[in-house]
Amino acid sequence: MSGAPIEIEVGLGARCYPIKIGSGLLEDAAYWCDAVRGRHVLIVSDEHVAPLHAARVQEALLGCGVDAPIETLSAGEAHKNLDAAARVFDALADLGATRDACVIALGGGAIGDIAGFAAACWMRGIDFIQMPTTLLAMVDASVGGKTGVDHAAGKNLIGAFHQPRAVIADLDTLATLPEREFIAGFAEVIKTACIGDADFFAWLESRADALLARDAAALTHAIATCCRCKAGIVMRDERETGERALLNFGHSFGHAIEAEAGYGALLHGEAVAIGMLLAARLSVRLGMSNDGDTQRLRALLRAFGLPAGCPPHLEADALLARMRLDKKNRADARRLILWRGIGRAEIVAGVEDAEVLAALRPEPTEAGGG
Ligand SMILES: NC(=O)c1ccc[n+]([C@@H]2O[C@H](COP(=O)([O-])OP(=O)(O)OC[C@H]3O[C@@H](n4cnc5c(N)ncnc54)[C@H](O)[C@@H]3O)[C@@H](O)[C@H]2O)c1
Repeated sequence: MSGAPIEIEVGLGARCYPIKIGSGLLEDAAYWCDAVRGRHVLIVSDEHVAPLHAARVQEALLGCGVDAPIETLSAGEAHKNLDAAARVFDALADLGATRDACVIALGGGAIGDIAGFAAACWMRGIDFIQMPTTLLAMVDASVGGKTGVDHAAGKNLIGAFHQPRAVIADLDTLATLPEREFIAGFAEVIKTACIGDADFFAWLESRADALLARDAAALTHAIATCCRCKAGIVMRDERETGERALLNFGHSFGHAIEAEAGYGALLHGEAVAIGMLLAARLSVRLGMSNDGDTQRLRALLRAFGLPAGCPPHLEADALLARMRLDKKNRADARRLILWRGIGRAEIVAGVEDAEVLAALRPEPTEAGGG
């Protein structure tokens, strides 16, 4: 892709920020240097992304007269914890970072979450810029201001809402993304269609091949559609008191599956893919939707090479126990995101354990869970 990036504005009162999607953005500070206010800038990345992409950001900053060190963290969900956040605090302290310092999160959703959380905490909140390098982070994690780290008791249990000053999604970074990670990102793309955009769902059905071939125009359309949808929801419900919870379609099941399988066994997107199918299946059980839409979802997940069934070795009772810890629950009732069909997700409270268990048990047709 060439030409000017697509720009989407996220308007949250005075805290308005742009999402820019295009090629060649990292090395051209003209696209993002106005989001850097002071002289202290820390680039936070991980061991895989830093050697591939950090030098371009660092050099672009040097061109603006800013000498920014790189803090390279271990990659992956197993390292998204308070120790990683502490490494960022130490690097900010070494830098002598003041209130106008800026953290640049260069990496996937894990780096965005850790670096954003550290920025939210340092001096009670300094600026940060999201530079997502995975498809999942471009379409979901980098937008909306949720930051945080995991605790042994569960995923993302420690965190803060902290909006970035800008989101810079450079499509060139996707060229180095491993295939399995790339495919996992489509789970969140499909989720966007599932919750509120039946036309986008149909478009994905027709464009799966182009997207999987990393066609720049198709990818740009998909990423921009997801960012517009998420930005709209975040603008209406920043703190997740209502509508924003819809973005968790498939996630209550998915988080339980991810944890029960052992972090690292399944990628976040893969677990979400399975979770969406379980949510669709539960919706049928509760009489909210018909099986035809569940089958369309299953077919679309398969077309993208995503898993479309729960790994058979995971026990339904253990998954249910994990789901009780879900952050979307209220003290008095479980809350799940289900759907009335493609493009029509809803928050549903008080679903009985027996119904959830029945949805969690493998269907005879799901041999091998794939
Ligand atoms: N804050 C939010 O709103 C939000 C939303 C969704 C997901 N998340 C979080 O995002 C995380 C998952 O994000 P993810 O899927 O991006 O995983 P990730 O950040 O763990 O990255 C996946 C892997 O790809 C590597 N990688 C990243 N970009 C690369 C590139 N361009 N080239 C080569 N390798 C690259 C990373 O080093 C890592 O090994 C989870 O922790 C999840 O909880 C947050």
